[in-house]
Amino acid sequence: MKPIIITIDGEAASGKGTIAKFIKKEFNFFHIDSGMYYRKIAKIIIKKKIVLNKKKEISDFIDKYKKIDFTNNKSLRSLKISKKSSEIAKIKKIRNLINLNQKRLVKANLKKYPGFVIDGRDIGSVVFKNADIKLYINTNQKIRAKRRYKELIDRGERIIYSNVLNEIKIRDEKDKNRKYSPLIIPENAIIIDNSCNLQNTKKLIKNLIIKKLSNKSKNANKYRKK
Ligand code: C5P
Repeated sequence: MKPIIITIDGEAASGKGTIAKFIKKEFNFFHIDSGMYYRKIAKIIIKKKIVLNKKKEISDFIDKYKKIDFTNNKSLRSLKISKKSSEIAKIKKIRNLINLNQKRLVKANLKKYPGFVIDGRDIGSVVFKNADIKLYINTNQKIRAKRRYKELIDRGERIIYSNVLNEIKIRDEKDKNRKYSPLIIPENAIIIDNSCNLQNTKKLIKNLIIKKLSNKSKNANKYRKK
């Protein structure tokens, strides 16, 4: 049976990652956190003090980093990297490089996993438009900021809550208003409110996936019998 593809899009810190990890564990799916790709590039740009304003600067960067290893993604959650990642996310060539890498990764693992779960901002609307299930996660902004603040504090960052809230607001604005692949609710997406109870969210999504898998296997059997 062809593996199923689930996309999860939503604003910053809406809980996409937690939900994706839950799906990965529950169904043994392959998970791609597309935000990490943007963060990885942002980290390089910060570290090497690279400027990407002109077309030539962008092309040179792409040439140099097209074979970048996106699988090693440690310590990319800082506020500074978050901010930079949404700045470079408006560059079409960077988006194309990342999308190509994600598609390659799925293709390379097609035979190994029963399904894939990919989370980000443009996954259901651009990268995997034909996904079997498209989810859009809605979470109240203050709740998102509180969760992200706690996460950063737990990681040992020295920050104040109002800066986290502010950073999330600015990033959401940028992600929704950029020219290429802005964050939108993808066509046919199921909107899930994740402001209150994560357990309910998980239960709901689990049932959706079970239903999809069972329909797929019924259809696969139908074809086999023919
Ligand atoms: O999901 P995460 O917060 O790690 O993403 C960091 C940033 O990367 C986002 O704010 C967004 O600007 C960018 N991004 C994107 N498209 C994706 C995933 C992330 O533009 N599919």
